[in-house]
Amino acid sequence: MVFIMNIVLLGPPGIGKGTQADALAAKLRIPKICTGDIMRDEARKRTPIGRKAKSYMDRGELVPDRIVLEIMEKRLKENDCRKGFILDGFPRTLVQAKGLEKTAGIDVVLNFVASQKEILERITGRLTCQYCGEIYHSEFARPKSHGVCDKCNGELYQREDQKEGVVRKRLEVYEKQTKPLIEYYRKKGVLANVNAKGRKEDVSKRVLKTLDALKK
Ligand code: AP5
Repeated sequence: MVFIMNIVLLGPPGIGKGTQADALAAKLRIPKICTGDIMRDEARKRTPIGRKAKSYMDRGELVPDRIVLEIMEKRLKENDCRKGFILDGFPRTLVQAKGLEKTAGIDVVLNFVASQKEILERITGRLTCQYCGEIYHSEFARPKSHGVCDKCNGELYQREDQKEGVVRKRLEVYEKQTKPLIEYYRKKGVLANVNAKGRKEDVSKRVLKTLDALKK
């Protein structure tokens, strides 16, 4: 039986949402939709939305809800989303969560939890492929060849928003604007906490176990 699932991944910057979203998307064969990736792509193409979004992202602030909701309303209406989807980094505010409800229902919100130390180690060592967006880490997930993506041979780079001051700002913004969503989704009965400590393979197993429990 095909089990359709609309999944939200919630958690502070750097905890490993993108890494788990990639693994889960491959396993469930549903799209991973990352608002950060969409806006970085728009910024690279220098579109009006991309230029506007970049100014907020470079400062570690959230892009205005209006822009993000407009992007997501369109994206969620695309055909591939009919089989379910994984949202990575959206919603990030109560306004976005309420906006999302007008477009799609959510079956489960996986809330990733780890220590501040682990989050900082992960976020500061992250490397990303310029071309395919594959995520690596200078210590925990090294590419086979230094600076080169295993999948597409693209060049790996450190994102602008990994600078120390910007990371601090992103964590503050998470505390103020995104953390309230934990309570919001808990009250709706769709929240599941996932222990995000340890190796990414172990976290993936916990994610699958959580989703399996929902099917029963
Ligand atoms: P976005 O791109 O969404 O970034 P983020 O949520 O801040 O999260 P990150 O991508 O930094 O971390 P992650 O949790 O995905 O972890 P990852 O898997 O990469 O957003 C960027 C910006 O865009 C925002 O600041 C905002 O300006 C804007 N934006 C985006 N969405 C928005 C929205 N909805 N509304 C408004 N503005 C929005 O892992 C991190 C590192 O750790 C990697 O190197 C990885 O290899 C490593 N790692 C992962 N798991 C493990 C593990 N278990 N053990 C060891 N290392 C691990």
